[in-house]
Amino acid sequence: MDKMRIRGGKPLRGSIAVSGAKNAALPLMTASLLTDETLTLSNLPHLVDISTLANLLSQHGVTISMDGQANGGHTGNVLSLTAGRIVSTTAPYDLVRKMRASVLVLGPLLARERQARVSLPGGCAIGSRPVDLHIKGLQAMGARIELSEGYIEAEAPQGLHGAEIVFPFVSVGATENLLMAACLARGETRLVNAAREPEVTDLARCLVAMGADIQGIGDETMVVRGVDRLHGAHHAVIPDRIETGTYVMATAITGGDVELLGAELEHLSAAVSVLEGAGVEITATNRGVRVRRANGRLTGVDVMTEPFPGFPTDLQAQMMALMTTADGASMITETIFENRYMHVPELRRMGASINLHGSSAMVRGVPALRGAPVMATDLRASVSLVIAGLAAEGETVVNRIYHLDRGYERLEEKLAACGADIERIKEDA
Ligand code: UD1
Repeated sequence: MDKMRIRGGKPLRGSIAVSGAKNAALPLMTASLLTDETLTLSNLPHLVDISTLANLLSQHGVTISMDGQANGGHTGNVLSLTAGRIVSTTAPYDLVRKMRASVLVLGPLLARERQARVSLPGGCAIGSRPVDLHIKGLQAMGARIELSEGYIEAEAPQGLHGAEIVFPFVSVGATENLLMAACLARGETRLVNAAREPEVTDLARCLVAMGADIQGIGDETMVVRGVDRLHGAHHAVIPDRIETGTYVMATAITGGDVELLGAELEHLSAAVSVLEGAGVEITATNRGVRVRRANGRLTGVDVMTEPFPGFPTDLQAQMMALMTTADGASMITETIFENRYMHVPELRRMGASINLHGSSAMVRGVPALRGAPVMATDLRASVSLVIAGLAAEGETVVNRIYHLDRGYERLEEKLAACGADIERIKEDA
């Protein structure tokens, strides 16, 4: 498995183009299952997760063509997806286990084909991550669902119907799955306590462009009136707010000065106010966002992860890396996933002072981190070790970087172009 070698201590300077959002792109691709016409998506990132989902969609019968055009000056892929005829309603274990977002084929397949058989998902090892809300919501819409031999077996011989679905807590994936299913269900569906993440909003906007009737986009309650059919559309994926936040932290920890091209601050307001409190200056430019330290040192701040518009759980690990060398203490509380601290022992190996108390981590800033061999088992934890390595004295080797390739497009190239001493070591090197 590839490794990443980083020699720390170089401030990042220059510009980085922000890619299209992975977590918006994945549900958007599954929306192609809802119509027999072509859905064209631009500004897609080049990532392993995108290829994994493309493989899954192909085996359902979606034909996919890649135009490879640039989009708005950023690196962007254009994919045209046509689900003329669904040839299989089974999403097999071998493809689904690689990525949890594969479960997003369930709602669209069931809505269009009235049946679906989807393996229970895998993905990052961050807590148990059940799919009970997806299943209960589809049952409320008339589906009969059984779990058998690791598969979700769903059928709705009469088609799905509208329902009022009240989520007991916010789930991005369940909101997306039910939103897509509701577009082709008979009658009205109310999604109450729906996720409001920008990626959900992006999906809803694309569905409207495909002919869906959705009210309340971006609100806690969305109302969907089912239509008989959806049609093709063109849609540009939003910029990746998590990638943006990651490079903000990488810049800040190294004391650098970087412009993030195409970044959108409005998707990151909670993170921006926390980071400003820590001494990071973040300003909008006409090309994106500029990041540098306001004046010298960083200060410890407290952070709690929350559903949007709160501080995103997908930036918690990177924020913790940033806080390891700040002045004073920082209390970081994770409220979304119960086991999202795999980076803690690894950051400690680099000299960080972190104590875990249940769902909170107390980080006491140290003068400097030291490079070390480290390893992570999920995407955001892995990138937090890269961030720490960029600031650490000496050499850090991040092992098992498979997860980084799932979620960060050309990570080492983007960082090296800003002066980082970082290189990928191939498995057989
Ligand atoms: C999505 C993101 C992921 C992000 C997460 C929270 C994608 C592809 N992934 O994941 O990067 O960290 O949102 O912002 O967009 N839960 C249940 N039952 C369910 C569904 C969820 O108990 O049926 C729990 C989960 O275990 C978790 C919480 O709800 O504790 C939130 O999960 P959810 O918002 O569904 O996350 P994902 O959609 O999987």
